[in-house]
Amino acid sequence: MLILTIESSCDETSAAVVRDGREVLSNIIASQVDLHACYGGVVPELAARKHLEACPVVIEQALQQANVELSEIEGIAVTAGPGLIGALLVGMSNAKAMAYALGVPLVGVHHIEGHILAPFLEHQIEFPYLALAVSGGHTHLYRVEGIGQYQIIGQTLDDAAGEAFDKVAKMSGLTYPGGALIDRLAQEGDPKYFDFPRPMLHRPGFDFSFSGIKTSVLNQIKKLEYPLEEKTLQHLAASFQEAVVDVLSRKTFKAAQEHGLTRIVVAGGVACNSGLRQRFKKFGCDKNIDVFFPSPLLCADNAAMLAVAGDEYLSRGLSSPLDLNARANWPLDSVGGPLQSDTQSKR
Ligand code: KG4
Ligand code: ZN
Repeated sequence: MLILTIESSCDETSAAVVRDGREVLSNIIASQVDLHACYGGVVPELAARKHLEACPVVIEQALQQANVELSEIEGIAVTAGPGLIGALLVGMSNAKAMAYALGVPLVGVHHIEGHILAPFLEHQIEFPYLALAVSGGHTHLYRVEGIGQYQIIGQTLDDAAGEAFDKVAKMSGLTYPGGALIDRLAQEGDPKYFDFPRPMLHRPGFDFSFSGIKTSVLNQIKKLEYPLEEKTLQHLAASFQEAVVDVLSRKTFKAAQEHGLTRIVVAGGVACNSGLRQRFKKFGCDKNIDVFFPSPLLCADNAAMLAVAGDEYLSRGLSSPLDLNARANWPLDSVGGPLQSDTQSKR
């Protein structure tokens, strides 16, 4: 099956053409980072307006790059939530209009479902596995039994890991989004230079908390001379990143062992982090657990990742109605299939 996928949940407008839920023929991503950088974060209204301009353009580019005619598209998958409501509605309106005009089925996919299934575009992975979703809005651990079968086993109680990266970057005088900048600085710094806390590490269960690490970094910055010297900034970035990586890796591997899982998938924007990738690979070798990271382009927000679930649901004959509504909040463990009309999905 040849499907078109559309993602617009935050500040990336993306469209992709994917065959059989595995073969990516195109994956166009238009980032709005420059638009929001001067505000220090995403401005929802501006994001929605930019998606409105970009959506038809990226769809056209995705079809061209895939060398596919619109008439060949057999189904459309779109992010239906969670995310910024105005941003989501733009992608969904484009998807619905195209599905209606082409007479093909539409399927609403959960954004995080897209992230944690993204490795299937590059690897063969057997179920079940443990998925760590780490992005700007999520830090969640799921037991994944199959496509549409997710059980949440841990989550952040406050900030998401990516949010902590972005806030620490901002308080260090770096631009938004700061995750990748902190990662780059950390490579030149000493991870033991500052001693930041490891919240929830020794508590039972698999929940996380990152706001304490962030506050601790802020308190440290207040004791230093501002603007921070390059070397101090590097040590700060390395020590902060080490605290986050330490907590994420130790808790995730403990969860895998307690749940008897021998495969771990790490996905979402923070999965681009070089320190996180190295630590997970090392722990994976030491503990005999297979670790899968999507390549960086497929870790960050992109439309191709929606094709794995989208293709599966459409192939099973499951689709969403055209009165499908976007959902700003939507827990993944209540998915179990494509999003239906709003009343049906509020289980
Ligand atoms: O998945 P994503 O692209 O969008 C959301 O769904 O939120 O994730 C974006 C997040 C941002 O917080 C960004 O700073 C973070 O991922 N990020 C990183 C890195 N690259 C992106 N965080 C740490 N290290 C990186 N290399
Ligand atoms: Zn995302």
